[in-house]
Amino acid sequence: MKFGGVRFILRISLLLLVSTATLMAAETAHLTIDASKTGVKIDRNLFGQFAENLGHGLYEGIWVGPDSPILNTRGIRNDVVTALRALKVPNIRWPGGCFADEYHWRKGIGPAGQRPATINNSWGGVVDTNSFGTDEFMDFIQQIGSQAYVSVNVGSGTPQEAAEWMEYMTDAQPTALAKERAANGHPDAYKVGFLGIGNESWSCGGDMTAEYYLSQLKIYTRFVGNDNPAQQGPNHMLKIAVGPGFPETEWTETVMKGWQLHDWSWNFDGLSLHWYTVPNGWENKTPSLGFGVEDYVKTLKSTLFMEEFLRKQETVMDKYDPQKKIALVVDEWGAWHAPLPGSNPSFLVQQNSLRDAILATLNLNIFARHADRVRMANIAQMINVLQAMILTDKEKMVLTPTYYVFKMYVPFQDATFVPVSFDAGTYTQGKVTLPRVDAIAARDASGKLWLEITNLDPEKPVEIDAEIAGMTFKSAKGETLTAPAVDSVNTFAAPNAVVPKPVFASLKGGRLALTVEPKSVTVISLEP
Ligand code: AHR
Repeated sequence: MKFGGVRFILRISLLLLVSTATLMAAETAHLTIDASKTGVKIDRNLFGQFAENLGHGLYEGIWVGPDSPILNTRGIRNDVVTALRALKVPNIRWPGGCFADEYHWRKGIGPAGQRPATINNSWGGVVDTNSFGTDEFMDFIQQIGSQAYVSVNVGSGTPQEAAEWMEYMTDAQPTALAKERAANGHPDAYKVGFLGIGNESWSCGGDMTAEYYLSQLKIYTRFVGNDNPAQQGPNHMLKIAVGPGFPETEWTETVMKGWQLHDWSWNFDGLSLHWYTVPNGWENKTPSLGFGVEDYVKTLKSTLFMEEFLRKQETVMDKYDPQKKIALVVDEWGAWHAPLPGSNPSFLVQQNSLRDAILATLNLNIFARHADRVRMANIAQMINVLQAMILTDKEKMVLTPTYYVFKMYVPFQDATFVPVSFDAGTYTQGKVTLPRVDAIAARDASGKLWLEITNLDPEKPVEIDAEIAGMTFKSAKGETLTAPAVDSVNTFAAPNAVVPKPVFASLKGGRLALTVEPKSVTVISLEP
């Protein structure tokens, strides 16, 4: 090749470099934070999980049985317990979901070989051995250091059955059921932190009207109690009523109006709310693998509706409960994608990509901004089902991008919300426009300031210039979660494709500067 030819190639390469740089030129975002401003607590229970008896959520995901070659403690997978301990999971909702309203607890206690096999009518009509019952769930809760959120059966059960289940779990006195628990190897009364009174009673829980459900709620909250002496008075178990799964407010109106008139004999502490991200509707669900930017932006746009949904319900709750005594409990949320090809469609198996991680941060940030009313939430679901933290296949286990978001957010558990104002403009793709950046901040008990920044823009990095007033900080460090593509996932073969990496942040004279990569989640801590 002649010298001129080389010059030509160099010129073209330079041109390509310049145009790529222009394409990738960073946007700028100015953030303002007054670290001395104290807001409400971001309740640790906002980071709760949901483990329904569905597909491989419990069986194989948690429970492999004591004789399994997979390392386990009393039948519960050790790898899963270790992974979940790192998330400091505050509470786990069990046994459903829709399954809760067909579950009869007595079938799941006693010697393993003597438990009856039943059919899981909610999820695929498969045989349920009932090997994972109350004592196994409580063992699991204790192994990971969490709290039990038990949903009782209102649809096909009775208040008496629910009351007896509570007696079995929580009675410290020598009642017949407490003795039965002891005979099953558990002399100490369990704690039940939260009690759900039914599930989606407007649909799979019995298709009730709000008025009918309210009458059931009164009976259940009157007669189903917690006898554990450690859970009386200020530490009492919180009772959670079924709330809406749709933006309309009639259900909330009826239940909250009823609550306003309650007397000494019945009460509840939280109203549940369910909202899934299903951007194309239930008949045309989005794939969880092999999608592009168009699906990514549509999904994030759809998930941001959570904010409006909460606001609508909060307006009604404020009318009947201006003191915010009743918490809004988003005990089912997350992305509901199409089942993975080849999987049992009733098992709700989906992969979990960088898109889902970003979706999770957007929801967690919305909950944090509504933390005066939203004091508990449960992502659906914990293992092998929907937007899972963990996927397993026999002895193999992989942590999903959503798992890493929950890990990065651990410092926000019970931290105090600090308002952040920011403007980074918008990102538009086709007909969809998204905010380019989202951010929250909080101070933990040690005085550290934690800042989370999500860059929704899938193409451009954003240079963050944050002005931090009200306190001085010595140093800043952090980590970021991103990957080459919006649909990047962790697999059993490549488990570290989407994992957090350290990020550089400079702190000078009350100004924090860093660059956040496209489609990324970044958490920075500032040391006072
Ligand atoms: O999470 C899966 C199902 O979604 C739950 O069982 C039900 O409550 C909701 O409709």
